[in-house]
Amino acid sequence: MTGSLRAHLCVLLLSVTALRGRGRYIDVQENEISAEGLFSLLNSELKRESPDLYLYRRPLKCLDMVAVEGQFTFTADRPQLNCAAFFIGEPTDIISIEYDSVNINCRGGDFIKVFDGWVMKGEKFPSSQDHPLPLYERYSDYCDSGEAQPIVRSSQNVAMVFFRLHQSGSSFTITFRKVLNPFPCNVISQTPEGRFSMVIPQQHRNCSYSIIYPVEIQIGELSLGHHNDLKRSVPGCAGAGDFVELLGGNGVDTSKMFPMADLCYSFNGPAQLKVGCDNTVVRMVSSGKFVNRVTFQYRLLDHQELQKLKGNSVEDLCLSG
Ligand SMILES: *[C@@H]1O[C@H](CO)[C@@H](O)[C@H](O)[C@H]1NC(C)=O
Repeated sequence: MTGSLRAHLCVLLLSVTALRGRGRYIDVQENEISAEGLFSLLNSELKRESPDLYLYRRPLKCLDMVAVEGQFTFTADRPQLNCAAFFIGEPTDIISIEYDSVNINCRGGDFIKVFDGWVMKGEKFPSSQDHPLPLYERYSDYCDSGEAQPIVRSSQNVAMVFFRLHQSGSSFTITFRKVLNPFPCNVISQTPEGRFSMVIPQQHRNCSYSIIYPVEIQIGELSLGHHNDLKRSVPGCAGAGDFVELLGGNGVDTSKMFPMADLCYSFNGPAQLKVGCDNTVVRMVSSGKFVNRVTFQYRLLDHQELQKLKGNSVEDLCLSG
């Protein structure tokens, strides 16, 4: 068999597997929201005043973004078959969703599903390589377990609720709360500027911090808890069990993003990089043998900086400098 044919078959097999996966888990989750659509939802949501004294209440829309704790009611005024609400907290929060009252027809094909993460255009955050649970355990279906499990919690600061209601007049009410996460691992940043310290304390896991804006990242400190410096003769980070990579891309699945830089030596910064993509990620891979830590800050690239990055590059994929 020739190499190219083998590659071709491999692609075919992959797409069949992907289709199967889709049928099983993400039938309606193919929401066609664009990055711009997501930013504008997020921006308008972040302008809301956070109410302190009493529970904030508002109707939920079929496509919605929620960043303020409160009680949200969706009422179908016609069949609503493909709805999704994005929930986001601070980096040090996890999301809690509580079913207060549900009036849907599970037998008639209605559903409400909470997903542990975000799905955009079929891509998931955190990716399967970074999430502690297998994919099927990240969906929680009200119609299967809602009565028994009225509160669902996420593993990181983002979660989604997918819902399908066939009858007008069907409705449900949920309460969204943010719960402190003492060991944040995977994070989507709410804002295009900020700073963060990611620590993986001797755990065999991977953590991704995702900024869904084109930004300049400045790494202040990287401590990988071992002395990789001895192996400087090895090019790149090949073979390193503990490292940090900077990724850029236009989707949310980190396993499909482009590597912009690999860092496998401890240093005291600053080291900086501009990434002109829709999504910029700092990802730490950890073998579990060491305490690994990376500290970084980031800010939005202005229009001029973006133009300059574009001018420097031959390809128009996603640019860094
Ligand atoms: C972390 O990611 C690497 C690839 O970047 C993968 O080989 C490894 O299995 C992942 N570790 C865990 C615990 O999922």
